[in-house]
Amino acid sequence: MERPTPLTLAFIVFIIFLSYPLMAADERYPVGHPDQGLPNPDYQLTPYHEDPNHVLNRIFRASFLVTTAPAEVGLALPREHRNPTEFFRKGWYFAVRPGTPADQRLFGGDTRLLSRESFSSEEATAFAKALGEVDEKVVQALKKRPELAVMFQHDLMRLAQRLMDVKRNRELLKPIGAVIRNVALSSDQLGQLASTYELGLRFKSIDSPLPEDLLRTDPPVNGPYIELLRMSTSLFDASHTLSWSRVFIAWPTGVKNLHQFLSDQTKGHRIEVPTGTKSILVQGIVAIDDRGRPYATPLAFDVRLKWLENRDPLSAWNKTTTRDGIQIRAYELRRTSMREGSHHQLFRALHDDDQALFRDYGALKHTTQAAQCTVCHRLHDVSDAHLGGFITLGPSANPHLALTGWERLRLAEREVLHFIKKLPGVGRN
Ligand code: HEC
Repeated sequence: MERPTPLTLAFIVFIIFLSYPLMAADERYPVGHPDQGLPNPDYQLTPYHEDPNHVLNRIFRASFLVTTAPAEVGLALPREHRNPTEFFRKGWYFAVRPGTPADQRLFGGDTRLLSRESFSSEEATAFAKALGEVDEKVVQALKKRPELAVMFQHDLMRLAQRLMDVKRNRELLKPIGAVIRNVALSSDQLGQLASTYELGLRFKSIDSPLPEDLLRTDPPVNGPYIELLRMSTSLFDASHTLSWSRVFIAWPTGVKNLHQFLSDQTKGHRIEVPTGTKSILVQGIVAIDDRGRPYATPLAFDVRLKWLENRDPLSAWNKTTTRDGIQIRAYELRRTSMREGSHHQLFRALHDDDQALFRDYGALKHTTQAAQCTVCHRLHDVSDAHLGGFITLGPSANPHLALTGWERLRLAEREVLHFIKKLPGVGRN
């Protein structure tokens, strides 16, 4: 190879210099960093106002970020295992070691989960004080950006839900409930929100070939993706997630054969789901309107694609997310982009090796996205490998075609009513 000329070198340095502000501005550690995907402590999150110290940002950061040592560390983290050929064997997704104080990190939630478990008494006092600062002026300014008002309300709803779940800081429920009510929009305003999913596709922050009208609510088939209704596990119960979730399947040999599969399955046949089958899961916010009623909004914040790439043996060489044939791709909404109107960055694409703090069965586990998805979606060591990891296609989910597309939205609203009943003051009027 020829040696680079001084001019080429200067050019390379110049390019690095140009891209530096972008890299420095990243709110999460980049691909290849030992803490890839975790929040960068040097970056101040400003999702709700350009001023980092604005009360809405302070409330967000206090509920979203937490410095803690996880109970378990997944050996799937690249730094935790040496030889991939040896590591990617049966059970790799379960492999963990106990956390130690040295594993302490700054963790952030993602758009689905909050890391925050509880507040110390000083933190709780400061948090209640901040909630008290959300006065009429702040509320009116926030409501000028309806999509931010909905997202902020959702963040508080999930925090309240978490505190109720773990039965901590009950004293905060009332003030949180009051702010949830104060920032609520009318159902008319909620009805006018733009679809974040469509913006994501149009401006290519969701860079997968998906149909723009996927989330349509008119009947029923248009293109390869078909919405399936299903008996959800508690993971997708909106009284906890405060979100709607819709699942779509594309069968590689066409819609007709999906029908055939479903009908054969109801007769008790075990049919192998073919490679090339794809699914999409989209979750979006169920807001509470100013009359205390749940409202399923078009604010999708979580888009997950999953497809069956192959049925080859589990090994490091099977370059799929699960290492046994299932590939995933996931996108999450970036609040700050929403505020800044930077549509081309509205969603962040997650990588298989991105890390996060997950909460399985109560224990906080620091592991990779790939390991987490593989716990539930895999072909190996499960009794229903013929389903190709598509849990929705199993008989226990009772999959059947949606007729209107409204079904899951209405279901989620009914489920959120349970939450509203539990939270003091929210369902008034
Ligand atoms: C704790 C178990 C669990 C984990 C972890 C999990 N899922 Fe799922 N997933 C489910 C269940 C259960 C369903 C079926 C939907 C329902 O219950 O309504 C599902 C459904 C899906 C679907 C729709 C198609 C299908 O397979 O039924 C996609 C896409 C999906 N998950 C992607 C992911 C991705 C990406 C991850 C990792 C970020 C992930 N899942 C992690 C349990 C899990």
